[in-house]
Order: sequence, then C-alpha cells, then structure tokens
Amino acid sequence: MHYLFGVDYYPEHWPKERWATDAKMMREMGVTIVRMAEFSWSKWEPREGEFHFEDLDEVIEILEREGIDCILGTPTAAPPKWMIDRNPEIQPMDAEGRRYFFGGRHHDCQSNPVYREHIRRFVTAFARHYAQNPHVVGWQVDNELGNSHGNLCYCPSCEKRFRQWLKQKYQTIEWLNQCWGTAFWSQGYTSFDQITAPKMTTSGHNPSQQLDWKRFCSDLVLEFHQFQADILRQAAPGKFITHNLMGFSDKLDYHRLGEQLDFASHDQYPGGHFHARHDVYRADFHAAELDLVRSVKKKPFWIMEQQSGITGWEILGRTPRPGQLGLWAMQCVAHGADTILFFRWRSCLMGTEQYWHGILPHNGEPGRYYREIKAFMDQAGPWMEEMQGAMPPKEAAILFSYEQDYAFAIQPHHPDLRYTQHLMTYYGALHRKHIPTDFVRENDDWSGYKVLIAPLQFLMTPELSAKLHAYVAGGGRLVLDFRCGVKDAHNLAISTDTLPCLVHDLCGIRVTEYDCLRDAVGEVVWNGEAYESYLWNDIIELDTATMLAAYGKEFYQGSPAITYNAYGQGKTYYVGTQMSPALADRMIEEVTAGIAPLADTPWGVEVTQREKNGKRYLFVLNHTGTEQPISLPASWQPMDGKDVSALPPYAAKVYRRA
Ligand code: GLA
Ligand code: ZN
Repeated sequence: MHYLFGVDYYPEHWPKERWATDAKMMREMGVTIVRMAEFSWSKWEPREGEFHFEDLDEVIEILEREGIDCILGTPTAAPPKWMIDRNPEIQPMDAEGRRYFFGGRHHDCQSNPVYREHIRRFVTAFARHYAQNPHVVGWQVDNELGNSHGNLCYCPSCEKRFRQWLKQKYQTIEWLNQCWGTAFWSQGYTSFDQITAPKMTTSGHNPSQQLDWKRFCSDLVLEFHQFQADILRQAAPGKFITHNLMGFSDKLDYHRLGEQLDFASHDQYPGGHFHARHDVYRADFHAAELDLVRSVKKKPFWIMEQQSGITGWEILGRTPRPGQLGLWAMQCVAHGADTILFFRWRSCLMGTEQYWHGILPHNGEPGRYYREIKAFMDQAGPWMEEMQGAMPPKEAAILFSYEQDYAFAIQPHHPDLRYTQHLMTYYGALHRKHIPTDFVRENDDWSGYKVLIAPLQFLMTPELSAKLHAYVAGGGRLVLDFRCGVKDAHNLAISTDTLPCLVHDLCGIRVTEYDCLRDAVGEVVWNGEAYESYLWNDIIELDTATMLAAYGKEFYQGSPAITYNAYGQGKTYYVGTQMSPALADRMIEEVTAGIAPLADTPWGVEVTQREKNGKRYLFVLNHTGTEQPISLPASWQPMDGKDVSALPPYAAKVYRRA
C-alpha cells in the first residue's frame, strides 16, 4: 500500500468535536495519511506510569472511517514536566555549563540514563498499544533529530559517554595524545578520566578533540535513534520506520541514519525558517537538499512536512505567491518524492508556532492555500501514482562528507567558508545546466557517474586517495579543489607529502603556497575572459597537468588557477579558488562535455528527469514571477495533454516520453 498525500495533524490542539470535521475535510481533499503524536507525551502520560491513549485511539478511529491511516511519532523531543521536575539533569547543558530549561522543546539530553529508561517505558507501551492496529502503518522516532541540538549537550552524562567512546576508539591514552596532538599548549592526558567535552575555553580549542566531539555527537544521536527503532521493531513488527530529515543539517550523519530507516523523509520549507535565520528562497538550494535526501537511501523518499502557507515563529516570512505552494510540492516530486505530507493541516491557535501557517487558516475555513494545494493534489496525484519508484538518470555526483563539513566548521580558514555553501558553487552550475546530480559518500560505488565533484577534501586518507585514483584511472572525470589533502583523519596536518597530499600525482600539480583572500576578491582569467573568485587562492605549480585558467591578480598573476591532468583513462581537474557562478558555469561546461543537458530553458526555469521501466518523465519548473517560454522536442508529451509555448509564473509542467 502506498500513499500520495497526507498532512501533519495535532488533534490535541483542537476540541474533540472538530476531529470528525477535520477527517472528513481531509478525505475530501485527497489525504490518505496523517502524522501525529510526536509532541504530546504529557497527554499520553500525564503522570508517571499512567498511560492515556484513549484520545489518540479515538482520533485514529475517526480518521480510519474516512479511509486515512497514520504514522505516529515518538514524543521524545518534549519530555513532560513531571519528569523534568523529578530529574532536572535530563535538561541539556551548553558548552558554557548552562542548562536549557523546560518551556520549549528539545529540552532533553539524549544520553541521560534516567531519560533513556523513561523512553524505554513509554515507547514500549506506545508501540504495544498500537502493534495490532493496521491503521497505524509506521513510526517516526522523535522529530528532526539534530534540530536545536547545535550547542547540546555538554552535561556530565554526555561527557562520560564521550570518554567511553574515546576509550573504544583509541584504546590507550598515549595513542589519543598522539592523535590529538596534545603536546601543544600542555594538553597531555594521563588518563581517559581527565578528558572533558570541548567546553568553553578562553581561546581556540584543540581541533582534533573538536572533530572527535562532532563525530561522537553524531554517533550519539544515531544510537539514540537506534535505541528507539529497536523497541518499535520488536514491540510492533511489520510497520515502517522513517525519519524527517532537514536537508543539509549536519548534526548527524544522515547517510548512516538511512541504514536504520525503511525510507527517508524530509521537511521542506522553501519559504525559510523565520525563527532563526533569514534565508531567502533559492530554488537550487532546495533542489540540492532534495537530491541529498534521495541519496540517503538511493531511492524515492517522502516529504514528511511540506510548506503549506507562510512560515514563521516570532518573525514571519513572505506569503507564498499564487502558484508557489504547488510549484514547491512539484519540485519535491521532480527530485524523487513519492509521497507528500503538508505541514500543517490547520494554523495553530496557541504556542510558538501560531504563525507557521497550515493548509487551513486559523478559522478552519478553506482559503487560497487550501485551493492551491488541492489543485496540485488533483493534478499531480495520478502522475505520482504512475511514477512511483522512478529515479533520475545517473550523470554527475558530488561527494558529500559530514567529516569534511565538521573539519571546516572547526577551522574554516576564511570566515565566509561554509562547506555546503561551497558545494553549491558546483551544484548551482549543474542545476543551471540541467544536469541530474546525486550526492554520494566515500564508501559508495562511484563508477556509474561520468563526473565526480569532490570539493574541499581537507581530510585525506590513503583509502580515499586510492579510491579517487581508481575512479579516474577507470575513466571518470574528477574535480578536486583547494584545501585538498591537507590533514589526516585526526585533523593533524600531513607532512609526508606535497599539497594536495596523497593526490598531487593524480592532479599533476603541486600547491606550493596559498593566499587567504581576507580583504580581496580574486580574479581568474580563462581564455582571455576575466571572472571573479573568492575566499582562497592556491598557488599552483604544474607537474604533468595543463593549465585551463590563470590568476589575473596578485604577485602570482598568470600562474595556474584551474588545471586538468590526464590520468589512466580519465581526467582530474583542480580548482585553486572558490569560483563565481559565471566561472563555475564555464568550468562545468568543460567538465560535463558530452553530457547532454535535459533541456534548454530560460534562467530560473528548472528541469529534472525521473525514469522507470523505460519511461521518462520531464519536469519543467518556472521559479520566476514572470511567464517563461518553453520549447521541447515533440517527443515529450505533456501529461496534462495541453501543448504550451510558455509557462505562467510559478507554474510547473510535466512531460512523458516512452
Ligand atoms: C519543523 C518541525 C515541526 C515544526 C515546523 C515549523 O520542521 O519538524 O515540528 O516545528 O518545523 O516550525
Ligand atoms: Zn547530556
């Protein structure tokens, strides 16, 4: 059984009398699945050991009568007050030793043994209660694991777990001292018991310790998920387990979380998260997040929360323009979503998220958002039915590594260097050229990709080096760039080779010096044409490589900025700087020579493809506020049967070809 559309529903926020109306309206809209329960622990267990699932039973039954199944979330992102009062140490601690208190969410330390016991008790009871209910079809553990855990948790319980983790990894304290370079600033340890979390210090922290801390935190969250998934699978077998990921969020390694999931899910808010940062809508960025989520299981995924109105907590975002809600949902389908749940059914009357708007407004009466989402569902439903399981063709891949991301978060060199933003230099260019892109990890098989882009390979190991060599030797086109082969896996500088260490022969170059562009914009000249570049310039000497472009400024003007080197049956490109979009376009043109773009469309019109059983589906998405011309070969049949020569603002069109 599969589902196409659903909503996130919070029956506990509404009077019981409304439930039947909601369920009926959901059915009329085309909803067949809801997610519930992930924040309501105090409802289901108001006092320790007193379980009250009656209301949830009732709402599940009401939904069932309308043909709607449900996914239940374990409510462990919001432990109830009675628990916190009895064991205040469950509340997490930041790097300055301050507790985070009750009244928000995520006020939990994920390693705390008392908390774990409460979870075991509750989740077991919860799972057993619904084990036999065929309308509870799946589980979501917690909610957006890693969310709000930016500076959590440095409490004594987590420190203890960190020490155990280190002991297992290093075995002896001497080896840890060596791998952490503790000779520096008198940091030598004589026992594992002396080690703390990297709490607030007067000055910079040990980068090797910090990298291990990041790895440990990711492992802890993964183990926290596994702990609950094990209980659920044992107490209520036969139901799926998924999790709502957050795109490029890096608190835990999603590739490894994927190993515990039946399929991946994702929360997609193109309008931005207006409680914290003010990101503007960027079609390429949201496309990249969707491609990353698809890459977690290498198969189609679900959207567990899809924006259905204005986003906002204390501060609000823009209202979605007419057409945008449907366009954003279609973008998810275009990148491999087979099921979409909209967040949330109705705008809430209470709490922090009063203005994170739902399909229905506060008064519960359908308005524009409802009409637009319903129109999307009516149109896209049959197409999604047909293309369940379809995947994009394999052309280019970007190597994505949480470890490299962590290492740059610890030592970015340039204050504006961000791992994912830098990856977007390449992704953006591929996106503009309509070349399908996957994200791969180090231990994946890369051989199916014609092009592999591996930016910022800061931490280099002999294994990774061997794999990169083999990929190119076998005919692959590989792109490496600056800060490559700088460090070993312990975050210590490599001294036994020339930069880019362990791959300089593969690149056919030596990086003899570098220049951090703190107060300057760089310039790169390619075929007489000057382009901007940013953040960093590697100063490169050629061995066997050929220069493609040179620096246009500074004392190293005229020396190579971008090179390529034939190796085996393939080629390695090296980029010594962060390229401007125009330069990245030029570079991607070169690297992807021979890969045909999916289509040629005006700026702001995205194109993607999915394939299944010899059938291809082409998505054309107009992310601009103006009408855009489209012209495709006649072999592409519009799925709505209507031939058009232009796309209205914020409209999507889907085509089929046998
Ligand atoms: C996240 C969470 C939801 C809700 C929404 C809106 O994606 O998963 O619980 O908080 O954001 O803020
Ligand atoms: Zn803790």
